[in-house]
Amino acid sequence: MLSFRSKIEKNDPQAIRQIAESTGFFDEQDVRINVDIAKNLLNQKDTSHKFLFADYMNHPVAYVCYGEIPDAKEGTYEIYWLSTLNEYRGLGIGHNLLNKLVSKLRKKGASKIYLKTESKELYAPTRRFYEKYGFKLQAVLPEYYDDNDSCCIYVLDLKAKDSWGFYPEQYGAAE
Ligand SMILES: CC(C)(COP(=O)(O)OP(=O)(O)OC[C@H]1O[C@@H](n2cnc3c(N)ncnc32)[C@H](O)[C@@H]1OP(=O)(O)O)[C@@H](O)C(=O)NCCC(=O)NCCS
Repeated sequence: MLSFRSKIEKNDPQAIRQIAESTGFFDEQDVRINVDIAKNLLNQKDTSHKFLFADYMNHPVAYVCYGEIPDAKEGTYEIYWLSTLNEYRGLGIGHNLLNKLVSKLRKKGASKIYLKTESKELYAPTRRFYEKYGFKLQAVLPEYYDDNDSCCIYVLDLKAKDSWGFYPEQYGAAE
């Protein structure tokens, strides 16, 4: 049974390491950044980055790390990291986790959620995942990550409705 929680627990840094490593998408430096963010949140050293976890049978199988962008207009958030444990990918957990996040942020009056991802082929399914959800490609920073790897900046506009009156993520879910 899948459940969601926002309160970070003492074993989460270890679970985050396991989930991030399992994807094969992140190098050791990225994994360590994720773990350190979680540790700093646990120790109350830095509470600007938050997590939302998806637990299967009380064991974390996916997480999203997000926060309000400090120098942007109020209500502007960023998804910093998102991962699903490799053997649980493609089961709808990532989509459900985003649904939880969006409804949580809507209640806080959020208007936009940004995220950065990579243009290289490895990330094609990731980009499809976000696009299917309703994120729109807003900008590309050429060769940001590497010579052949640009930064794709996506945005989910929480105020925009389509011509049928659906919010972007409702449209994605209805597909
Ligand atoms: C992107 C990610 C978080 C999506 O989580 P998820 O739990 O697999 O997502 P869902 O099951 O809700 O959605 C699956 C969709 O994601 C995409 N996807 C990405 N990688 C996939 C994989 N290995 N297996 C199946 N689907 C994958 C597909 O487009 C799929 O779409 P479909 O429903 O049309 O088949 C997850 O695949 C992941 O951890 N990827 C590696 C790390 C990553 O790219 N993180 C984001 C960095 S910006």
